[in-house]
Amino acid sequence: MNMPAAPIEVIEQHLIDPEICIRCNTCEETCPIDAITHDQNNYVVKADVCNGCMACIAPCPTGAIDSWRTVFKAQAYGIDEQFGWDELPPQQAIGEAATASMQASSAESLGGDVSDIDADADGSTQTRSATVPPWSAAKPYVNLYTHKAPIQATVVGNYRLTDASTESDIRHIVLDFGAIPFPVLEGQSIGIFPPGAARDGKPHHARQYSVASPRNGERPGYNNLSLTVKRVTHDHEGNVAAGVCSNYLCDLRKGDVVTVIGPFGSTFLMPNHPHSNLLMICTGTGSAPMRAMTEYRRRRRLRGATGKLMLFFGARTKDELPYFGPLMNLPKDFIDTNLAFSRTPGQPKRYVQDVMRERAVDIAQWLADEQTYIYVCGLRGMEEGVLQVLQEIAQRNGLAWAALWERLKREGRLHVETY
Ligand code: FAD
Ligand code: A2P
Repeated sequence: MNMPAAPIEVIEQHLIDPEICIRCNTCEETCPIDAITHDQNNYVVKADVCNGCMACIAPCPTGAIDSWRTVFKAQAYGIDEQFGWDELPPQQAIGEAATASMQASSAESLGGDVSDIDADADGSTQTRSATVPPWSAAKPYVNLYTHKAPIQATVVGNYRLTDASTESDIRHIVLDFGAIPFPVLEGQSIGIFPPGAARDGKPHHARQYSVASPRNGERPGYNNLSLTVKRVTHDHEGNVAAGVCSNYLCDLRKGDVVTVIGPFGSTFLMPNHPHSNLLMICTGTGSAPMRAMTEYRRRRRLRGATGKLMLFFGARTKDELPYFGPLMNLPKDFIDTNLAFSRTPGQPKRYVQDVMRERAVDIAQWLADEQTYIYVCGLRGMEEGVLQVLQEIAQRNGLAWAALWERLKREGRLHVETY
């Protein structure tokens, strides 16, 4: 007697394209169920944990995360295999019947239309910040230049922003793209390949840097952009470690040529409607996107933009705060600037969170205003603290934080980028 054949389970396996991924950690941070991990080579997805919730898709700045292969479940790629990849494996031929069965079961397990999946039944998005841009943001170009087809830009400026007497070496670096189109928006980033190879002999992977200039150029009308780069001399634990790409960039001279990919990022973007308010909170080089947005608003203000700007900016000392001079020269009725210094001799340590608490009444008013768009960028450690302060301020002023937080995310009004 013929026994019915055991059903062959086929899945659509979620993978990350190692050729496009810029190892920014956004996906791992976003995944609500810890299905994403990484080693020194690749970011990978655990097939047995990923439930296809799609929360990671929109925040990924490059689209590397949106990679799928139809596989027999029993033959899903394991993470050790994925760690060794330099490129995605080709799609293996899978019988039509199996593919059809996969489509049916995958739609079932994903609960229908995948476009709905980043929201829970109650509409919450499970992520800490928005996965959509502000409604009025300009449409960004993403991935115009890739690992396989990077472009070259010429360094036309590199000067130190921090006082020479301080430990922090933060540079303002201007790159010119000549005749090559490289359209960027404030809040986007680019990837830079440092020359040479890592210890395993493979070429260094690209590092990501936020654009510090407005969409129409560091100098209006020029095809250039600027970056704010900190020379990494110690790792996050404080051990001596010369960062590969940051040292390469900080040592560049005028006329040098760098290899660039990008642009990246389609959510951490500024609203275009002129009466929107920008609440910007940053530390160190997290000021790069804030500088870009502020400068774009300054240029637009001359043409009638009326929205308000409030900035909270943390650095070790005044001399280590990038762009201190130019920031202080901005008119007080244009931007409400609040600085927090943590290592001023003889002064108590102050973080941006402390200064935000002092301005709680004003921040509460901004939180209640649906024209307010919030941007947080800088040290990973600040993220938790800043969200905590926003919650405190909201609750003390009669705003229900959980609902407000969800609304800010849903409406693309809270953006966090930490590294
Ligand atoms: P690596 O050789 O990669 O690392 C050397 C060691 O330092 C490692 O142990 C590593 O864990 C540690 N390390 C890595 N980064 C840091 C850090 N920032 N501080 C302390 N220790 C570190 N950097 C900027 O300077 N300006 C920017 O505008 C900027 N924007 C970014 C935007 C995004 C979205 C992301 C994800 C990162 C951004 N970075 C920015 C960080 C940048 O991509 C690099 O990670 C950083 O320059 C270090 O690279 P490296 O090659 O010099 O160090
Ligand atoms: P600290 O003096 O404690 O390092 P960096 O110069 O390393 O880029 O840091 C920029 C600023 O951010 C410094 O003033 C630093 O203070 C501060 N900082 C460090 N950790 C946090 C945190 N968890 N929240 C807010 N600010 C922080």
